[in-house]
Amino acid sequence: MAEEKKRILTGIRPTGPLHLGHYVGALENWVRLQEQYECFFLIADYQALGDHLDEIDRIRSSVLEVTLDWLAVGLDPAKAVFEVQSYVPQHAELHMLLSMVLPLSWLQRNPTLKAEMDRLEEENQTLTLGFFNYPASQVADILLPKAHLVPVGVDQLPHIEMTREVVRRFNRLFEQDVFPEPDALIGRVPRLVGTDGQAKMSKSLNNCIYLGDDEAAVTEKVRRMYTDPTRLRATDPGHVEGNPVFMYHDAFNPNLDEVNDLKERYVLGKVGDVEVKTKLAAALNTFLAAIREKRAYYEARPNLVREALIAGTTHARTVAQATMAEVRDAMRINYLG
Ligand code: TRP
Repeated sequence: MAEEKKRILTGIRPTGPLHLGHYVGALENWVRLQEQYECFFLIADYQALGDHLDEIDRIRSSVLEVTLDWLAVGLDPAKAVFEVQSYVPQHAELHMLLSMVLPLSWLQRNPTLKAEMDRLEEENQTLTLGFFNYPASQVADILLPKAHLVPVGVDQLPHIEMTREVVRRFNRLFEQDVFPEPDALIGRVPRLVGTDGQAKMSKSLNNCIYLGDDEAAVTEKVRRMYTDPTRLRATDPGHVEGNPVFMYHDAFNPNLDEVNDLKERYVLGKVGDVEVKTKLAAALNTFLAAIREKRAYYEARPNLVREALIAGTTHARTVAQATMAEVRDAMRINYLG
């Protein structure tokens, strides 16, 4: 008998198109993982509402946009489950029940949540109960398919740790091993710097190269990229370490000889930024060409995109229903049989 595959759940908030940071931090890993595991890829639209209630149109278009990006990089609805959070009502049900189990202090001490709440306050945004509660909703995301592994970015580690604590508490309180304790899985480049050299590529910082950007856009973004601020002329010795242009070369240029040659000449002051950037733009455009081609294919066939979400979500609902039956039994909320 074939051994049962371990389960993975991971998700993305549909708040805009995906960029190179998503690729090296998550997507390329997911593409590999879908071959080995039973993968659930979640579009977390409820979670996006937490701080985008005034941008529901953006969430709407991003659900399809993100799915297009997934298909373009090679995630395959025949191998993995694509699901939309708000179309699986058990997410809301389990989230509510878990909020009875989860001590408020666990959310209050969560460092990622704290930092995000500070940001909302700085931006004068209303902090809603829904936002404060989102790490608990994420616990429900992970536990519904009883995931063993959760591929995430480093900023999400406190949420995974909290998930493990909730699992231990739930299983102990109800004296059954309903849920496994999931492990986190970090990507190849845990956090890709932005084109402006800021620590993170992020839509709100306007420093992204998107998977859907065309050749001209990529070339222009690379041309304007931040490099070594201490270097004024091409003949000045430059710094490779911490230089975003070289970080991108390392992440995306498969031609190691070219990259090493550029680095050697850069520290000696024997190559200008223009050459380093021209070669980077070429490497990125080569890398993105295959993704663009697949994206165009699915863009022309929107029904395939919708069908991938509908089929995956239908399957996810069946799985979620089975888990909820177990949860209700464990909690003895099954009075009517
Ligand atoms: N919060 C995650 C992010 O910022 C997205 C997400 C939602 C998620 N639900 C999840 C990640 C469940 C892992 C597991 O991208």
